[in-house]
Amino acid sequence: MTITDRDFPGSFLWGTSMSAYQAEGNNVHSDYYHIEQEQMAWPPEERIFSEPSGRCADHYNRFEEDYRIMKELGLKAHRTTVEWARLFPEKGKYDSSEGDHYSRAVDSMLENGIRPFICLNHYTIPWWLYREGGFENPDFKKYFLEFVEKLLDIFSDRVRDWVTLNEPGPLALGAYLVKDKPPYKSDFFAFRRVCRLLMEIHADSNAMLKSFNADNSVGTAHAQYVVKPLRPWHPVDRLYSWAVDRLSNGSIIDFVRSGRFTFPIGMGERYCRGRHDVDFWGINYYRRSYGKGTTLLQAKPGEKVDDLGWGKYPPGIYENIVRSARETGKPMYIMENGIATDDDSWRIEYIRDHLREVSRAIDDGYDVRGYFHWSYIDNFEWNHGHGPKMGLVGYDPVTCERIVKRSARYLAEIIQSGKIP
Ligand code: BGC
Repeated sequence: MTITDRDFPGSFLWGTSMSAYQAEGNNVHSDYYHIEQEQMAWPPEERIFSEPSGRCADHYNRFEEDYRIMKELGLKAHRTTVEWARLFPEKGKYDSSEGDHYSRAVDSMLENGIRPFICLNHYTIPWWLYREGGFENPDFKKYFLEFVEKLLDIFSDRVRDWVTLNEPGPLALGAYLVKDKPPYKSDFFAFRRVCRLLMEIHADSNAMLKSFNADNSVGTAHAQYVVKPLRPWHPVDRLYSWAVDRLSNGSIIDFVRSGRFTFPIGMGERYCRGRHDVDFWGINYYRRSYGKGTTLLQAKPGEKVDDLGWGKYPPGIYENIVRSARETGKPMYIMENGIATDDDSWRIEYIRDHLREVSRAIDDGYDVRGYFHWSYIDNFEWNHGHGPKMGLVGYDPVTCERIVKRSARYLAEIIQSGKIP
């Protein structure tokens, strides 16, 4: 096959994404674990988590098998987190046996030809820190940077690819405005403070990773949903869609690009420390949302939706690549893209349609360097529990035995041939 027969260049990096909390199981020292347990004692209608995370896919004990499966599928990269609360189960107390565990996990990835992309935070924090104010604790940054320093101790000889934060916009928005993530506040000033803190820890940890080793490549994983007014002519729909985009996307993109806090998290002031700039831009893309009045719809009325109630819009991935290239000028990775469904034929269609758009972007000259599917394995889907299935690989709920889905084989075929069937 000549290069022109291919939809993707041979150098294109194929991977999967996952977070430790959503796959490892039994993260008993993390904030979410305790909050889930607490909520199980509440009346069902008041619970935000539908069920506790529990054992999840037991990836903690089965990582070797999982990395072997990735290798068999031809995957060459994997993005995941280290659970902060495992390394620091108590304030100021480092658990070296957990450090050894993650060190073995990285070895196992490398033995299987998997390039690790380590993400520093994917929402969860240690329970002790949550009890002491969480993201509003005045020493949050200090604790976070101690954690990053420890990651460097453990991995710096083997890991070169780092992602600072997973989706800082939706994290702050969910936790401090719309109340879908702990601590479920609705306080614009707290939202603004936490957004700024997240941007500062992005810049400070980025600088730490770079000064440790200039060859470290550091990026973000940024939630980039397309938000459109449901009724394009309606001023409130338009204003609301614009505001949601500013809150979850625009101000974060501005900071990473310029080091400035822009509306609504600031008035253009510059953060003078750290390193705001990145080596690559990670796009998490799932769906198109719509502003209707002052509510956000995850699909058009009547549109076919997945098990999270999300509509599908494959051209949105192309639109986000164009936007990211224009606004950041950085090489890009699709850091998350996936669908919550039991219907694996639909997952195949989803992968096909989104990859066609990615391939179109590459043909049009956009510097997209890789695609990481969310998720490697059926994961704990936060408030929705274990119901929605997003994995290329499933598992038996009793034995945890891995079940490689048809969609995983389909992606493997694309990886092997560089062509979308
Ligand atoms: C988050 C994941 C989550 C996925 C599907 C992403 O925005 O990073 O943690 O599982 O959405 O809800």
